[in-house]
Amino acid sequence: MRHLIDIMDLSVEEIDSLIETANDIIADPQLYREKCRYKKLATLFFEPSTRTRLSFEAAMLDLGGSVLGFSEAQSSSASKGESVSDTIRTVSCYADIIAMRHPKEGAPLAASYKSRVPVINAGDGGHNHPTQTLTDLLTIKRELGRLNGFTIGFCGDLKFGRTVHSLISALSRYENIKIVLISPDELKIPGYVRHEILEKNNIEYTECFDMTDVMPILDILYMTRVQRERFFNEDDYLRLRDSYILTPDKLKNASSQLKILHPLPRVNEISTAVDDDPRACYFNQVENGKFIRMALILKLLSEV
Ligand code: NCD
Repeated sequence: MRHLIDIMDLSVEEIDSLIETANDIIADPQLYREKCRYKKLATLFFEPSTRTRLSFEAAMLDLGGSVLGFSEAQSSSASKGESVSDTIRTVSCYADIIAMRHPKEGAPLAASYKSRVPVINAGDGGHNHPTQTLTDLLTIKRELGRLNGFTIGFCGDLKFGRTVHSLISALSRYENIKIVLISPDELKIPGYVRHEILEKNNIEYTECFDMTDVMPILDILYMTRVQRERFFNEDDYLRLRDSYILTPDKLKNASSQLKILHPLPRVNEISTAVDDDPRACYFNQVENGKFIRMALILKLLSEV
């Protein structure tokens, strides 16, 4: 039985094959309508979500399966003090596959030890978010046509942004990727990503504060939200939240082929005036999220 806790649980070949399946589903969704008939997905969300939870649920419904679960810890027995282990033992009696989001880093991993069915990490604290990474990779492949030979700028909250950590891990296995890390000092990439991923794999990376200087060299700009819920104090959040606001003006020196990604939700970091720019890909990214999750559910259920 396979779980997906960390993006590195999947080989590059497996990721390629998931992307291929997602593209096949996009081309002919009817073919997949009955693939998970009588199968159930449980979504256990101990933290807020719109896209991740609903795209998981839509994915399972579009495969002909059904869904159950909860969307806040308050409505589960966690609010009575039940442990994650006991919750997962219980849910794995009812569902064939589980997608779980939790504010504690490592909670989905701990859950996978106790589960009788595949567990998918749908985001654990400020740590990892592998299915967002699959979404991002599918989007890059569809928008740019390749998963190698590009320069990507990550901008915003690189410290707490779990989507950034997972995507950097994933990219460390592709050829000729250059990374530009754009953030204020307080929100720099964590040491373990720097040492264990970037430096260990000899990935070419630079760090800076100002996005305008690096804009012309980017093939992809990956914007992120400042993760308010992970801050210890509100004043720090208020001081840092508007560090970056992408506007049409800031894009003046960018390539006409630039791809702008954002895992969403956005707060202020991308002005809505950018939404109609042909370089804005974040709503395509949202759509891709459902298709790659369909491919993932199919894969994990076929390996049980
Ligand atoms: C991201 C997350 O939850 O980490 N959202 C998502 O899943 N699409 C990014 C964020 O919340 O800022």
